[in-house]
Amino acid sequence: MCGIVGYAGGRNAQPILLDCLKRLEYRGYDSAGIAVVGDPIQKGLQLFKSKGEIAVLESSMPEMTGTVGIAHTRWATQGRPTTENAHPLSDCTNRLAVVHNGIISNFMEVKEHLLATGHKFVSETDTEVFAHLVEAEMNGDLVAAVRKALEKVEGTYAFVVVSAGHDEIVAARRESPLVIGLGDGENFVASDVTALLKYTSRFLHVQDGEVVSLTRDEVRIFDSEGTAVERRPEKITWSLEDAEKGGYPHFMLKEIYEQPEAIHDSLLGRMESAEPEPFFQGNSFSSVKIVACGTSYHAGLVGKYIIEELAKVPTTVQISSEYRYSPVSRESPLVVLITQSGETADTLGAAREARKRGNKTVGIANVVGSAITREVDHVIYTRAGPEIGVAATKTFVTQVVALYLLAMELGVQNRSLTAQARRSMTSFLRSLPRYVQDVLNKASEIEAIAEKYARSDDMFFIGRSINYPIALEGALKTKEISYIHGEGFPAGELKHGPLALLSKDSPVVAIAVRDHTYEKMLGNISEVSARGSPVIAIGFEGDTDLPKFADDVLSIRQLPPIFTPVPVIVALQLWAYHLARIRGCPIDKPRNIAKTVTVE
Ligand code: G6P
Repeated sequence: MCGIVGYAGGRNAQPILLDCLKRLEYRGYDSAGIAVVGDPIQKGLQLFKSKGEIAVLESSMPEMTGTVGIAHTRWATQGRPTTENAHPLSDCTNRLAVVHNGIISNFMEVKEHLLATGHKFVSETDTEVFAHLVEAEMNGDLVAAVRKALEKVEGTYAFVVVSAGHDEIVAARRESPLVIGLGDGENFVASDVTALLKYTSRFLHVQDGEVVSLTRDEVRIFDSEGTAVERRPEKITWSLEDAEKGGYPHFMLKEIYEQPEAIHDSLLGRMESAEPEPFFQGNSFSSVKIVACGTSYHAGLVGKYIIEELAKVPTTVQISSEYRYSPVSRESPLVVLITQSGETADTLGAAREARKRGNKTVGIANVVGSAITREVDHVIYTRAGPEIGVAATKTFVTQVVALYLLAMELGVQNRSLTAQARRSMTSFLRSLPRYVQDVLNKASEIEAIAEKYARSDDMFFIGRSINYPIALEGALKTKEISYIHGEGFPAGELKHGPLALLSKDSPVVAIAVRDHTYEKMLGNISEVSARGSPVIAIGFEGDTDLPKFADDVLSIRQLPPIFTPVPVIVALQLWAYHLARIRGCPIDKPRNIAKTVTVE
């Protein structure tokens, strides 16, 4: 996720671009940059960028004059968050500037080709290849050059391009958001309406495959065939605050709804190769140790089941703050450190300790260039985009996706996963966003059940096998945002103590999908019902037995057991969200907890 803005009008572009960009900082804030076409336009391009937040760009950039320009605030996915990798990116001639949101999945291939034909690159980004492609196709007509360049790239994008000597901005979209703002004698383009609300309330939404040309007086939209498209502007009446949350009342809800896209982005370009990544080649690991805190620890617990099933490698999971006090094992495990922020002090300490013990380390992080990435041998980035709500949602789900990828790598490396099995895993993973979307479509059902139980003081969550950690995560989400005392248990443990806590006032959420633990789960649900506790079961659609055992049933579309944690946790995120909303809690900033914990 990154923030993009472009302006073509009669006023000086620089202050307007900066002002709009600040509204997009929630989309990324590791580096920023601006390019303004010279005035008179023959003067060439003025381009400036810097590492860090937009405030750093603002305080260090020179004054620019010109009425056409673009700007970008970055959340790195390809290439570290450095000044060189910041956008806009240019070509060899420095007469062209490109900003991009998305991922060019075939960029290595395209880059090799461009290198062979004499192009020189200054950044590690995928975006720079696009600047070179446009330059190579440029023959005076910027729209035509962008269209030709688009034919050579795969992946997702919102591109916005300016060129010296042109008073035009050209934008293109595939799967990444892009809107046009219509002003009086000026036009805008941006990642979302938030950026532009101060300047206009009339918008055109760019559709996938479309290319747009903007000048101060005209906006032209072309479909993928190059045919002009007519579109009526929409009037948007959101407040600035509503707009930043994309119209959702809370960031948490917005981030829950972003999960299909986040999963898609995390998978993009990563599953095509039948060969393991170089880091795994030649490394054979007899065991894996996963180390993490909080929600990331729960992702690690899910990862244990995934790795043991796909790669047949024994896996243990440990809380980061405990790891350093654990005895050094005789064998040398692969140590996997999971941290969405990449800055959690306990996990960083654990990474240093793992290296001191001579173990190979892999980090799973969401923030490119964060501290953990300097402490490990290999990084797998989740590409969830910035998460603002304190309660982790999309970062959790993408961590689980990263663990599927890691398990597949390990499985291929040690030959416990056949090529055929890997292919079917891969093809299923690609469809996972649809299963998540199905759950999101049932939000009102979840809300209606939450309404019945929102006044509870205690709530228990039970599951077995790969859904036991999901019970823990469901309980954590519930307690941290709704302040209901929530506890998760492996369902088989109820009889060893927790049953003593049950009463008619303590609802139990039971994850009872049809896997090898299903019959046992029904038994546990009966135990709970016998103590008078209401049961909310999460099961598969079409399961006619479950309603006989549970008071309320939430159904998810049937899918292979190994993938069930993803849609089930999305249901539980919505569950926790609605409980908290009904109780009037400050959902995005729960009391006493922080998003990133940098103390041990
Ligand atoms: C804090 C956050 C949690 C998060 C945990 C670990 O406690 O409130 O949401 O799961 O830190 O954070 P990390 O960045 O290491 O994943």
